[in-house]
Amino acid sequence: MNLQLEEKISTNTFKKDILEGLHFNPKKLSSKYFYDKTGDRLFQSIMEMPEYYLTKCELDIFKNKTADLAKLLLQDSEPFDLIELGAGDASKSSYLLKFLVKNNKDFTYMPIDISGNILDVLKEHLEQKIPDLNIECLEGEYFEMLNKATALSSRKKIVLFLGSNIGNMEMDEAQDFCIALRKNLSENDIVLMGFDLKKNPQIILDAYNDKEGLTAAFNLNLLTRINRELNADFRLDNFQHYQNYNPETGACRSYLISLCDQNVSIEGEMFTFKENEWIDMEISQKFSEDDIQHLIQAAGFSFIGEIKDSKNWFVDSVFQVQ
Ligand code: AVJ
Repeated sequence: MNLQLEEKISTNTFKKDILEGLHFNPKKLSSKYFYDKTGDRLFQSIMEMPEYYLTKCELDIFKNKTADLAKLLLQDSEPFDLIELGAGDASKSSYLLKFLVKNNKDFTYMPIDISGNILDVLKEHLEQKIPDLNIECLEGEYFEMLNKATALSSRKKIVLFLGSNIGNMEMDEAQDFCIALRKNLSENDIVLMGFDLKKNPQIILDAYNDKEGLTAAFNLNLLTRINRELNADFRLDNFQHYQNYNPETGACRSYLISLCDQNVSIEGEMFTFKENEWIDMEISQKFSEDDIQHLIQAAGFSFIGEIKDSKNWFVDSVFQVQ
């Protein structure tokens, strides 16, 4: 497909999704659209905040428990493809890659990302850092590329889905995602998934309700993106970020609250916001051990093991297609 056509299609889904979400009652926008250039930069800064513990915890696992991780993932000496969904800069997985190469494991690393730009940078970086690594980048949607990987080789698949990215889905969507993942894999294939655990509610709230306002800016940036890409006139001063964590359900949710009665025009269509009306922006679901077991088993996987960080705040769970 040529680039221009591809761009047109992605703009159209963006437009369709945004308009559809703002017709919902209550209004809803998808956090998957947070990540434009500014959004990527804001998320980088969020990961560097002391309050945002998730990345640090999972890095602790990959850096300091690499051998344990590898042992869980590699039940036998079969060659395999190591597929990472949403690889980004692979800052965590590179520790595992280094370990596997050093131990002469026969595998190809296949990072999947929707950003071809990120993959180019990643490939260059890894080729320099780990010269003996076999790497095959796959640019596109997760399941489409997972299918492509299966067509490319019939080797055993080990799939990484890190960062508690699964938490950006509602629980029923997360369940559907795991079922779809299972359907795209074969018997004995392995999945390693990162989950942020339920913990002291204040610790969780602090990670998403930072005083510097980075999370607020991260949310508000989607309105800026809509202004730019969909010819809209959101006034950012008229919206306020509100974060909430419910210890009962484990849902950490962010909202943008309309500070007055106002109209916003998007692609020529008028949307009305009442004072105190909210837009549902993002869920960052937190999990109990039971939640994880249920999710895995209902999708047809069997549990193999798990590794937690030294604070027991985050877990990387390993499971296998039955
Ligand atoms: C990238 C989905 C793991 O939900 O914790 C960070 C995104 N949102 N701060 C998360 C995010 C607000 C993050 N994930």
